[in-house]
Amino acid sequence: MSVTQQQLSYLNAMGIPVWVSRDTVDSAIFDSRIKENAINNKPQKKHFTQSPSSVQIPAHNKPTKQHLQTPPSHTSSPPAFSTESLFNEIDQATPVKRPQSASSIADSLKKKIETTKFIECSNFDWQPLHQAVTDCQQCDLYNQRTHVVFGEGAQNAAWMIVGDAPKEEEDTQGRPFMDRSGVLLDNMLTAIGLDRPAVYLANTLKCRPPNNRDPKKTESKACYAYLKRQIELVNPSLILIVGRIAAQHLLQTKEPLAQLRGRKHTIEEFNIPVVVTYHPAYLLRLPRNKYKSWQDLKLALSLLASP
Ligand code: URA
Repeated sequence: MSVTQQQLSYLNAMGIPVWVSRDTVDSAIFDSRIKENAINNKPQKKHFTQSPSSVQIPAHNKPTKQHLQTPPSHTSSPPAFSTESLFNEIDQATPVKRPQSASSIADSLKKKIETTKFIECSNFDWQPLHQAVTDCQQCDLYNQRTHVVFGEGAQNAAWMIVGDAPKEEEDTQGRPFMDRSGVLLDNMLTAIGLDRPAVYLANTLKCRPPNNRDPKKTESKACYAYLKRQIELVNPSLILIVGRIAAQHLLQTKEPLAQLRGRKHTIEEFNIPVVVTYHPAYLLRLPRNKYKSWQDLKLALSLLASP
């Protein structure tokens, strides 16, 4: 049975897809269907180049006047379009989106971190710096913090002690090293003739990561400008880094703590001697390593004493 254009239009209007044999439909309609389907559905390229004997006509693909005016392919006049040129057009119009590989995601993330503009506080004094940290929303940690933990101590201290990040107790109180590890740190300071008010205590992060997880690279990077400015303002004679996370971040290395401790380092931007030792929380878990921390403290003392 032959399908007329009018019947086809009714079926299309009712949303009924129709399979139409190329032998039973007006060739102008058939050619316009091929053209439309080629545009709408490139993956069927093979299908079209093989001259199908029937073509499914989706309801929404009503032939337009323009389509119906396209000369049928069996006439002697040249076709108004070629399949090849249509695919060329489609290629230019719709660039193919390929799934990103893990390494390209990592590369773009790295680029994003490198090009992100972090807060400019390089000429802030203490008060505006404290305010900037209090107002900071540069990473998501501000969402969950109770208090920022800015840091505290003597603003002209000879010793600056840098830990990794506030934990629950510090987040609650807004002060650094308030937990059990802080008590051990106090004892370590006493052992070298210092106390808390004589040193400056800070962390690489000013906000607590949830569940005390390790800081993410983006978070440490976002927070670094604050610590950097604190170091500049205090201008200590020595920086004691406690713990692997702070050490690896500040020294830009992946070396394990066991290899970082026991020797002198310098942070790129500062001409200040740096000593790395175990975090007191680690020493609470493995007290047998306390003697190594004692050696590190003695190294720090000797660096301070040398001109
Ligand atoms: N651990 C740290 O590194 N810093 C703190 O303030 C508390 C625990």
